[in-house]
Amino acid sequence: MQSLKLNRETAHLAVLQRIELCNPILKKFRKLFGRYFFTAILSKYLISPSKISKNYHKLMTDELYLIEKYLKTNAKVLSIGSGVGGLEILINQKFNNHISFIERNFISKKIKYGWDNKNQEAYNNLDLLEQFLIKNGVKKEKFKIYDYDKNNLPQSKFDVIISLYSLDYHYEYNLYKDYLSKVMKPESILILDTIRPEYFNEIFKKVEVIKKDFDTVHKSKRIVCTNF
Ligand SMILES: C[S@@+](CC[C@H](N)C(=O)[O-])C[C@H]1O[C@@H](n2cnc3c(N)ncnc32)[C@H](O)[C@@H]1O
Repeated sequence: MQSLKLNRETAHLAVLQRIELCNPILKKFRKLFGRYFFTAILSKYLISPSKISKNYHKLMTDELYLIEKYLKTNAKVLSIGSGVGGLEILINQKFNNHISFIERNFISKKIKYGWDNKNQEAYNNLDLLEQFLIKNGVKKEKFKIYDYDKNNLPQSKFDVIISLYSLDYHYEYNLYKDYLSKVMKPESILILDTIRPEYFNEIFKKVEVIKKDFDTVHKSKRIVCTNF
């Protein structure tokens, strides 16, 4: 498996999306200098892209190990809030699937980690996402990126929908509830991190917990939902 290499701009995004990539000194600086300075300057210039690449690759490889049994070649995949897309690159390398991405194209001025009632927080750049996918060997015909804020979400059915630390971790499932009811088949699989797994028992006949996080910003569980 080809290893993921992030340049400074992409590494910057990855650090904003995955706070665990931040070293303890950077975290201290965040407390000292505030969220604005951290988001715009520190998390971009006080990082080593090569170290971030190594750690990000390891993080995404571990994520793939955890969910790969739910994927297969030719499964149509949708990723909601992929970040820079490292996991999706590894999925494409292994299964060669087509992957649709729904993401946002802005970086909040002062990133707040945690629950975001109004879904105002985002930390991505869709041009950088596209460049990163192509640079890492994902062919143009194997992916499509949709900007959540442009109201043109894909309408075809998906086999597997992945949303790691995004839907129902930072913002309410309700935001996507109607949309997902249109693009999921009864046998489709939805994988996400949530702070309230029991809520999904009302929507899906089968909900399986595959990971428990106690060290993240808020305690959460990764669930796999089927039988919509
Ligand atoms: C904490 S990051 C997780 C990124 C990636 N899934 C990972 O595990 O590294 C959350 C991502 O959700 C994106 N996001 C925020 N609101 C969104 C929305 N309404 N639809 C899709 N993505 C959204 C953010 O831009 C950000 O990239």
